[in-house]
Amino acid sequence: MATLNILVTGGCGYIGTHVVKALLAAGHHPIIIDNLSGGHSHLLPGGEFFKCDIQDRWSLDQIFITHRIDAVMHFAGFIEVAESARNPIKYYRNNVAATASLFDAMVAYGIRRCIFSSSAAVYGEPLSPRIDEGHPLRPTSPYGETKRCVENMLSACDQAHGLKSICLRYFNAAGADESATIGERHNPESHLIPLILQAAGGERDHIRIFGTDYPTQDGTCVRDYVHVNDLASAHLLSLEHLIRGGDSDIFNVGNSQGYSVRQVIETAATVTGRPIKVIEDARRPGDPAVLVADANKIRTRLGWTPQYEDLTRIIRTAWNWHQISESAKPLAAYA
Ligand code: UFG
Repeated sequence: MATLNILVTGGCGYIGTHVVKALLAAGHHPIIIDNLSGGHSHLLPGGEFFKCDIQDRWSLDQIFITHRIDAVMHFAGFIEVAESARNPIKYYRNNVAATASLFDAMVAYGIRRCIFSSSAAVYGEPLSPRIDEGHPLRPTSPYGETKRCVENMLSACDQAHGLKSICLRYFNAAGADESATIGERHNPESHLIPLILQAAGGERDHIRIFGTDYPTQDGTCVRDYVHVNDLASAHLLSLEHLIRGGDSDIFNVGNSQGYSVRQVIETAATVTGRPIKVIEDARRPGDPAVLVADANKIRTRLGWTPQYEDLTRIIRTAWNWHQISESAKPLAAYA
């Protein structure tokens, strides 16, 4: 495929940096915009970087005027389920209103391809052990609602403006690139695997389990952990689909295998060889009991084949990154 100019919003974040690396490896030219509210520009593996917010229309105009953008990959957004329950307006403002500004600019400049980071959080409590894309959407958090709003906005933009999109409903992104030069790091950290690895590494005393009375095999929440580079390959395949003139669509991206919080902690203890102190705590608002993907659609339609189906291997890549990032890169550098 010829070199494509891909605008990557939120490209300095966890998933964004891995997708930027994959775009570069495929010979494309990523143009990254990030307001650095959560991202780390020094981790970018390449591409052209602009520090700007997607709501900053003047800056977006300059980028669209000076670059012929073939497609937009839209990662920018807030990601914490619990925070969204406490502060919904923050989520609607950033994840919905700011996204509307971005789409407005795209339509104005004739950019008609978008790959959007949606989430399994759009489903809410599942009605079946594995969730396919036809499952009813009943989000249990404002975060999930904001993702559903943007999916609906994209559908309407297709009807009105011919803006073709692929919405990728990520299950739980995990792991790090094998190079261990990029990986997951949020500040403050709220995600399960990095928190467990911090406890294993001695940077925190313990890990709290949020809820031990869920209707699951061991009472803790079950999630489907998918390696971040497998998410990246889903983006590349989605891009190829849109470039071929493919229609708008929605795909789950997950391994179709559920692990409970306790199983993740046990696996991490084995990978790290360190004891991990656990404190049982109350449920966290907005958490569904089980979220496991039926990902047959993306496998059959786009030929997606995950390379990391084993949780031990996923956690090992995260641990390799964690050890390097904790020792070699002080937190102050992550701005
Ligand atoms: N958990 C704990 N203790 C912690 C942190 C998390 O028990 O200290 C539990 C949570 O309650 C949840 C599970 O671990 O049951 C996973 O929690 P994460 O915060 O790591 O991830 P979430 O499932 O809340 O959310 C992630 C992404 C969302 C996405 C969702 C889809 O952040 O963007 O996966 O499954 F929507």
